Formats: sequence, structure tokens, C-alpha cells
Amino acid sequence: MLLLNPGPVNLTERVRRSLLQADLCHRESEFYDLQDEARTRLLATYDLDPAQWQAVLMTASGTAAVESMVAALVPERGRVLVVENGVYGERIAQICARYGIPHERFIGSWMVAPDLDEIAARLAAPDAHERFTHLAVVHHETTTGRLNDLPALSRLCRQGNVKLLLDGVSSFGAEAIDFSDPSLDAVAATANKCLHGVPGAAFVIARRSSLAAAASRTFYLDLGRLATLQDQRGTPFTPAVHAYYALVEALKEFAEEGGRTARHARYAALASQVRTGLAKLGIRSLLPSGESSVVLCAYHLPQGMSYSTLHDALKTEGFVIYAGQGDLSKTLFRISTMGNLSAQDMQRLIACFAGLSAG
Ligand SMILES: Cc1ncc(COP(=O)(O)O)c(C=O)c1O
Repeated sequence: MLLLNPGPVNLTERVRRSLLQADLCHRESEFYDLQDEARTRLLATYDLDPAQWQAVLMTASGTAAVESMVAALVPERGRVLVVENGVYGERIAQICARYGIPHERFIGSWMVAPDLDEIAARLAAPDAHERFTHLAVVHHETTTGRLNDLPALSRLCRQGNVKLLLDGVSSFGAEAIDFSDPSLDAVAATANKCLHGVPGAAFVIARRSSLAAAASRTFYLDLGRLATLQDQRGTPFTPAVHAYYALVEALKEFAEEGGRTARHARYAALASQVRTGLAKLGIRSLLPSGESSVVLCAYHLPQGMSYSTLHDALKTEGFVIYAGQGDLSKTLFRISTMGNLSAQDMQRLIACFAGLSAG
């Protein structure tokens, strides 16, 4: 089955085989070597200086990485402006609400880019009580495929002297993130999307200076504690050892294939092949390619066809696609081109769509 959903992704045989390595006790040096390698390789994906940045691993999914980031890095007296233009932005606000973290929601349309002037105005609140300390945003809003304008949002953070917390769950490894931006505090992500590992390992790349001041509101996902113990070759709990095996192998493969620029180019080529092929059949993308990530593209459902009919027909041909979220499930479907997919696979997919239109 070819997975065109936005993670978990199809594995390469090499990564799948890595799951069959020796059983490991997580209190032995062999596990700490594995953990160290995963953390070093994660920093290398964006050429980060380990003296400034720390990769903090956790056994969890992407949401937990976002949750641990927000729950630890916003201080007691902090205040967050959450940019919401999709389901995952809404989720950050839900996390803030659950922990009682002072926050406001910047609710933008899902269909157009967030209004930067309005965000700048909200960040420039003159009253000290109203001042935001952090902006939290999703880099690639997987709900619609929109790639939020990270350079512009970073600029607003610098101007407003606000720190940036980024949900990079569906962009890390394939889209550009400027870690030299002094406002960027941390990025949360996961192993089983653009890095092509398996579900079970997630991580936060955080500034060491921010981690040193972190005070988490959660026990299991305490980012500061995880960071300190991992630096000391330790771990507080039982990690998903096999998911870490797969992450390391996936990161080796990622580096050998040319790193994030190559991964971006590979996704861009597959996404453009699908977009062009479907356009010829009259199936329109939701966003123009300049506003969409290379990771996932949302499309309008073909005239007169429900999502479930389309989904089931493609599944019998060996493809899993994804519905739109919320109300969009009635009008949209989504195709992600992450994972071990080839141009031939996409050609066959387009041929299946052509068969459906003809039938
Ligand atoms: C941008 C973004 N954030 C968070 C998540 C949640 O990740 P998970 O389902 O691994 O918890 C997803 C999942 O697709 C996502 O795309």
C-alpha cells in the first residue's frame, strides 16, 4: 500500500530492516550511543551548532513534542500569541488552554495567508500586562498544505522582541528553517514525516539558553529534564528503542541522499508531477504552488464525487489518500508525497485518477 497521507510514511527497506537490530536495554551504553547518534544527526540536518542547540528526544508523537515545547519554554509570566490558520494551530491554543498558559488566539482564515500587519499590531501591545513573550505558529499547516511565511513571522518576532515557538512537525527536514534567527527559540517535530522514520520518536530542537531556564508544567514531557538527562547519557523512562534505531537509519539515509535540500527537491518534483497530472484531468489544487509546501497539497474533489468514493476506489488500487479536515472533508482531499515514493508511483496514481474520470 502506498501511503499518501501525511505520515506515517512508507519506509525504505533499509529503514525497515533497521528495526530488526539487537534487543537493547535502555540503561546500557549501547542505547546511549544510539540516543547520542540520533541527537547529533538531528542537529546536523540543519547544520546546527551543538554548543547553541540541543535535540531533545521523546517517545511520543508530534503533538507531544509541541506540547512539551510549549509547556516548558513559556515561563510562568509568559504570554503567547498563537497563530491559528488550521487544525494544528488550533491545537497549540488548546495546549495553552489546558495548561492555563496565558495566551491569545490570532484566528486567520484557513484559505488565505495570515495577515502580517494584524499580527504585528497584536505583538506591539503597549501595555506591559498585555505584552506577548512568545509567538507560536505552525510552519506547514497540514490542514490545507499552506506553508506559513516563516521569514516574515520571524521578522515580526524580532521587531516585537518576542520569541518564536515553531510546530515543524510536517516540515522539519524538507522546508527551510532559519535557525540563525535570534527570535527562534525551538522547533518541535517527529521522526515519521519528512525524515522517513517510524512513529514513536519525536523531538524538540531548542536553544540551550532557553532550556537552561525551562520550567515544565508536565511530568512525562518535561523538556528541560529530558534535555539534561540526555546530555548526561541518561533517560528518565523506557524509550521506544526500535523507533530510535529507525530514526538513526533514516537520518543516515537522509544525509547520504543529500540532506534537506535534496529532500526538498525530491518532494517538489513529486508534488509538481501530481499537481500537473491532476490539473490536466480538471482537478484543481486548493492553493497555488507558491503558497503550498512541497510536502502536501490539498485538492478539490472531482465534480460529483464524494471523498469516500474516491478514497475507496484509490485504495483498491493500492493508494491511501487523506480527507480534508473539519468541514473541508466534504470538498477537499489531500495528497502527501513524503516517504519512499517514486515518480513511477505518481504516474500510476495519475493514471488511476484518469481511469476514474473516464469511468
Ligand atoms: C503540523 C502538524 N502538527 C502536529 C501534528 C500532530 O502530529 P501527531 O499526529 O504525530 O501527534 C501533525 C500531524 O499531522 C501536523 O501535521
